[in-house]
Amino acid sequence: MHDVIILGGGPAGYLAAERAGGAGMNVALVEKRNLGGVCLNEGCVPSKTILHSSKLYSHALHAQKYGVSAKEVSFDLATVMQRKNKIIQALRKGIGTTMKKFKVTVEGGEGRILPKKGDDFQVQVGDKILAGKKLLITTGSEAIRIPVPGADQDFVYTNREILDIDFIPQNFVVIGGGVIGLEIATFFAEVGSKVTVVELLPAIAGPIDSEISGILQKELAKKGITFKLNCKVTAIGDKLVTYEADGKAESVSADIVLMSVGRRPLTKDIGLENLNVYIERGAIAVDEHGRTSIPNVWAAGDVNGTSMLAHTAYREGEVCINDMLGKPDIMRYNAIPGVIYTHPEVATVGYSESEAIDKGHQVASAKLPLSYNGRYLAETEGGRGICKVVIDKTYGTLLGVHIIGSACSEMIYGAAAMIEAELRVEDIKEIVFPHPTVSEIIKDTLRHAKT
Ligand code: NAI
Repeated sequence: MHDVIILGGGPAGYLAAERAGGAGMNVALVEKRNLGGVCLNEGCVPSKTILHSSKLYSHALHAQKYGVSAKEVSFDLATVMQRKNKIIQALRKGIGTTMKKFKVTVEGGEGRILPKKGDDFQVQVGDKILAGKKLLITTGSEAIRIPVPGADQDFVYTNREILDIDFIPQNFVVIGGGVIGLEIATFFAEVGSKVTVVELLPAIAGPIDSEISGILQKELAKKGITFKLNCKVTAIGDKLVTYEADGKAESVSADIVLMSVGRRPLTKDIGLENLNVYIERGAIAVDEHGRTSIPNVWAAGDVNGTSMLAHTAYREGEVCINDMLGKPDIMRYNAIPGVIYTHPEVATVGYSESEAIDKGHQVASAKLPLSYNGRYLAETEGGRGICKVVIDKTYGTLLGVHIIGSACSEMIYGAAAMIEAELRVEDIKEIVFPHPTVSEIIKDTLRHAKT
C-alpha cells in the first residue's frame, strides 16, 4: 500500500515524487516511457542542446564583425545528436538516482486507473496492481495534429521525431509559429535549411508583446526564415504544404514538416472514467492546491491545462504534495516566466501593459533598447533587443518585464522574484546589480518609467 501513486514521470511527477519521498511518504511513480517526460527526453533539454550547437556554428560563421574569422567551419549533425543523447542519458540517470535516494518505487509501464477498492485507489501497470491512499495525475500533454489531408505522412514530424532527425532537410516547413515552431525553425535556419513558418494568426509567438513579436520576426527573417502569416494550412501533399493566403491557395516545398500547433492534455486511456473526475476543455480541472473534483486526487503539470510549462509543473507538483501533507501552500500564476529560446531569446514575466490595464491597474510603463547597456553593446553587435517594464502606479510595484535579446532567459528569474515578492520599484532601485551585466537593463528601464 502506497501513500501516493503518481501517474507520469515528467517534471510534475518526478519532482512531486522527490518531495513526497523526502517527507517520508511511501511513493510509487509510474512512467510508461522515460523518466523526465517530454521536457527532458523530447522537448526543453534536447532542443536547447542542439540550439546551442547551431548558435556556436552561426557565431563561427558570422564572427567577422567582432574581428574573428574562422575558416572551414562545419556542422556535424551526428555529433550534435550524440551529445544531445548523452546529456539526456545523464539527466535521466540523475532522476533515477534521486528516486532511489528518496525511496520512490519507480514502476516502468503504462498505468491505468481502475475503479476504487474501498477507500483505496488502484492503478494497473502491466500485470501489477498498485494500491494507494492518494493519487496524483501528472500525465502531461501530447502534440496536436491539425486534421488536414496528408497530416499523417511520415515526413510530418512533431517535437518528438524532429529532435531525433539524422539529416538536415533542404526545405523545412513549420506549421505553427509558436514556441516550439520558432525554436526549431531557428535551429534549421542556422544550419542551412530553407525554412518557412506558416502561421494562422497575423503575428508569431502567440500572446507576447506585439513589438517584441515584431522584432523577433525581423531578427529571424535575417536568418533566412520566411514567414507566411494569416495563412491556413489546407493540405499536405507529396513533399508540399498547401495553405490559404488571402483566399488563394499557395504551396511551399517541404522535405520535412514540423507540426507545432499546440499541445493537448493527456487524459485519454488512463482510466479517468473510473474516477469520474471533472474535465474542463480537455484538461483535468484543479483548484489552487492542485485538488481535482474527487477527494484525494490531485493533478499537476500540462494535464491540468493551466500553464503548460515545465517550471510551472515543478511548482504545481510541489504544491500538491504540500497539500497532501497538510502544509499550507497555493499555486500562484502571476509571476511565471516564459522564455522562447530563439536567437535572440525572448523572456517575459507578468502582465503586458494592455493586460495590466484590462485588470484594472493604473499603469506606468517604460522601454529601453538593450543597446543602452554596456555589456549588451560589447557582445551583441547590431542587436535590436529591447526591455519593457510595466508598473502599478498606485502601489509602485512591478507588474511585468518583457525582454528580447541575448541572456534574457538567464535574468528573467530576477524580475519574477521582484514580482513574486511584490517589491516596490523604489526598493528595486536600491538593489545593487553586478556591472557590467545585461541584467542592469531592468533597473535602468525602471528608472525611465514616470511613476
Ligand atoms: P503554441 O501554442 O506555442 O503555438 C502554436 C501556434 O500554432 C500558434 O501560434 C497558433 O496560432 C498556430 N496554429 C494553430 N493552428 C494552426 C494552423 N492550422 N495553421 C497554422 N498555424 C496554426 O504551441 P507549440 O509551439 O506547439 O508549443 C506547445 C506547448 O509547449 C506550449 O504550451 C508551450 O508553452 C510549450 N513549450 C514551451 C517552450 C518554452 O517554454 N520555451 C518550448 C516548447 C514548448
